[in-house]
Amino acid sequence: MRDTIRFLKSGEIVELENVGPTETVLDYLRLRRRETGTKEGCGEGDCGACTVAIGRLSGGKVIYQPVNSCIQLLGMIDGAELVTVEDLSSDNRLHPVQAAMVELHGSQCGFCTPGFVMTLFTLYHDAGAQKSRRTVTEWLAGNLCRCTGYRPIIDAALEACFDAADDAFSWRAHETREMLRSLTDGSDVFIGDSDCFFSSPATLDGLAALYGQHPDATLVAGATDVGLWITKQLRDLPKMIWLGRIEGLDRVEASPSGVLIGATATYQASEEAMNELAPDLGELWRRIGSKQVRASGTVGGNIANGSPIGDTPPALIALGTTLELHSASGSRALPLEDFFIDYGKQDRQAGEFVTGLFVPRLSANQAFRCYKISKRFDQDISSVMGAFRLTLDADGIVSDARIAYGGMAGTPKRAAGAEAALKGSSLEDPSTWGEAMHAILDDFTPLSDMRASADYRMETARALLAKALMEISGTAPEEVRVLAKREADHDRAA
Ligand code: FAD
Ligand code: FES
Ligand code: FES
Repeated sequence: MRDTIRFLKSGEIVELENVGPTETVLDYLRLRRRETGTKEGCGEGDCGACTVAIGRLSGGKVIYQPVNSCIQLLGMIDGAELVTVEDLSSDNRLHPVQAAMVELHGSQCGFCTPGFVMTLFTLYHDAGAQKSRRTVTEWLAGNLCRCTGYRPIIDAALEACFDAADDAFSWRAHETREMLRSLTDGSDVFIGDSDCFFSSPATLDGLAALYGQHPDATLVAGATDVGLWITKQLRDLPKMIWLGRIEGLDRVEASPSGVLIGATATYQASEEAMNELAPDLGELWRRIGSKQVRASGTVGGNIANGSPIGDTPPALIALGTTLELHSASGSRALPLEDFFIDYGKQDRQAGEFVTGLFVPRLSANQAFRCYKISKRFDQDISSVMGAFRLTLDADGIVSDARIAYGGMAGTPKRAAGAEAALKGSSLEDPSTWGEAMHAILDDFTPLSDMRASADYRMETARALLAKALMEISGTAPEEVRVLAKREADHDRAA
């Protein structure tokens, strides 16, 4: 058992004994170290001003990811390298990313600049990144600038980020690897006492025992939800258990039957496997939060938080995903939809936690579509999320349908009436789709809130079903317009 956390900063190993359960990396940097280059803007993971780079060993290499330090807990950087804007220049020379920002006028007031520079530092170190404006905008979607305008910043990124890394970090990569290896000791971390602690067990058994003793503790994976409970809701969370050091819990394993996603696998780590499973899933993964959010946030956290507007549950439910849970008294698996009992209520016993999920592959006669509807393309939670898996027979008749929505009820929920009505419909004959589209009216009673009105949600849910059917069947839009009009007339008459 270790009662400290250890990490690498500015080429030296830092060991801290005194780590509070809710202390953030940003507070540590600004308040304890007085390194104020890293800025605080929104304090909720939206603006990117606080971005730092976290380096971890993966496949024998140090991989740098951008992270929002305002919602990253200090204990979560155990075993990693923490890089901030103060670390970038060497021998009084700016880092290539900084130099390009100066040269191409990528900064005015400068408040956002350290965050942009740190995200670009991680892009600079991503050897596989393809040079394009699109790559840059994808990386920068989590960084906001109020005065420069994005063109000069994108120009700076294109100028600096796509040659082989040649900076102080690449020169001392071997040394960094060795230092990070020396920090990997496989021991449990527990800092504090039984009333107030930060802990991070190294094994599943250790976690089950600790959580069994403290079922009132807060489990944290990527902290992209829990971090906001601290910074925005000012919740008192005296007992924190971080899951990020449990060996094997971050696995992503593809097999002929499907993909197993461990509870602590991040969006970033699982994106490729999801894209391969279905392109719409890959697109959905890419649209979750920002690069920073996807580098920390986990699919397990998106499910365990029980949110009715989490993006992954509807898609995973439509695909027939199984959820795995574990506690000191054993393991169990259940269909994902059964996990969500009611608003704020999930099928999870005291001391039980999510270990992973299994997403089955589509068979040759199945088609899948999912759509996220939100006000912004990036960095936004959905107003409505719809997911559709159709099983078809040889004549294009729907023999089975799984349809799930987010944002339409207190939980992610299947559209039972629409599923039943769709069975027997012909993909080639849009006139047979009307009953299913109508059934959605009875399947849900959505609420109005700041994201969308109930009417908008209902219209959108029905339009998404039509869109899925149209895309899967290849039906001409004209026929779909006729169908939509007939549906609208029917509603007015009713
Ligand atoms: P954490 O914050 O670590 O935990 C979330 C919840 O799950 C907590 O209740 C925690 O106790 C529990 N938990 C975590 N792991 C386990 C486990 N293994 N067993 C049991 N309980 C567990 N969400 C979307 O759906 N779409 C978006 O586009 C999106 N954009 C975002 C943008 C920003 C800027 C931010 C800050 C958040 C966004 N989110 C979005 C929300 C969040 O990123 C996701 O819900 C994410 O998946 C949470 O994962 P996490 O690992 O960070 O969870
Ligand atoms: Fe805005 Fe952290 S301060 S993302
Ligand atoms: Fe002022 Fe970006 S330079 S906010």
